[in-house]
Amino acid sequence: MNTELYCQVTGKSYPADDRRWKSESGAPLNLRFRSSLDRQRLTTRPPTMWRFREALPIENDENIVSFQEGYTPLLPFQVEGRPIFLKQEHLFPTGSFKDRGASVLISRAKELGVERVVEDSSGNAGAAIAAYAAQAGIACDIYVPDNTSPAKLAQIELYGARLHKIPGSRENTAEAARDAAKDHFYASHVWNPYFFQGTKTFSFEIWEQLGGQAPDTIILPAGHGTLLIGAHLGFKDLLSQGLIDRLPRLVAVQAENCAPLYKMWRDKLTAIPKLSSIGTMAEGIAIAEPTRAKQMLEILKETEGEVLVVSEPAIKKALLLACNQGLYIEPTSATVIAAYLLYPFKEGESVVAPLTGHGLKSTEKMLTLI
Ligand SMILES: Cc1ncc(COP(=O)(O)O)c(C=O)c1O
Repeated sequence: MNTELYCQVTGKSYPADDRRWKSESGAPLNLRFRSSLDRQRLTTRPPTMWRFREALPIENDENIVSFQEGYTPLLPFQVEGRPIFLKQEHLFPTGSFKDRGASVLISRAKELGVERVVEDSSGNAGAAIAAYAAQAGIACDIYVPDNTSPAKLAQIELYGARLHKIPGSRENTAEAARDAAKDHFYASHVWNPYFFQGTKTFSFEIWEQLGGQAPDTIILPAGHGTLLIGAHLGFKDLLSQGLIDRLPRLVAVQAENCAPLYKMWRDKLTAIPKLSSIGTMAEGIAIAEPTRAKQMLEILKETEGEVLVVSEPAIKKALLLACNQGLYIEPTSATVIAAYLLYPFKEGESVVAPLTGHGLKSTEKMLTLI
């Protein structure tokens, strides 16, 4: 099977080295690629996400852009007496899980000989793309909403990217970036399918850390769904290679104040509903128009998952609960703990949730808790 891009809606395929960021029909692209896991070799390699080399679609090792990231700890934890494994994704080099996707996406940009990339983000993906572009020697323009946490802005600028703060909604930011992407490579964590090939390593690590098994359930924060879709991709890879015998149930979490996916799921809508934005402290999932909403809903259906919503007071309570037990995470990451408190947990069920971003990135919001 050749590596190729294909349109999610029409199925039309494009060569893998095509620099387009969407299909001719305007839909997101996916990647067709023969991924494999070599169980024997895993144990002989350093503990980074690149141990899964045969599952990552980069042709030449010399193009790999990496900080030796990955293999984040899976911490057994208790939330009000209920057991859960917390995967500490906030311990990545730039402080969020986005490094998984950025490492693969920027490696691919290097492989294609790209000289400048453009990306838009609520902050964390922008910081990750900026850091990996810096290592690769690729120039970088990052577009963010002008209310993004200052620590994320500092990170992006200090990595050497050109920072563009855009007034208005997250969608206004995306439009500004897409305009710039007419002349440059759009390294979008949402549109570019290589990003998801990186976030899928989250699943491979959980599988290894649980002794070669999938958990029953994974609870994930979902805005554009880069971790949700990546997690699904990873477990599908494991399933197709006979390394697990069933997919885990994937449960998406949204903030009540910005919950388009939840509304689509609950009301069986086929189009994204128009939302009036009232703001949430979970800035990472404040996405009113998720580009891959349909793909996320299909995954939730396939895995018999669901969407849960959490209120602002519930996020705050969960954040305090995490911090008071020594886990300094950003408000968006606390949504999964808030959701676990609502989740109808069954005795004996194994549940995993990621802590997606570091608290040090959101000092202003953290100070409001004191
Ligand atoms: C800390 C954190 N958690 C979760 C998410 C959600 O990721 P996605 O929009 O890919 O679903 C983000 C996105 O920026 C984030 O920064």
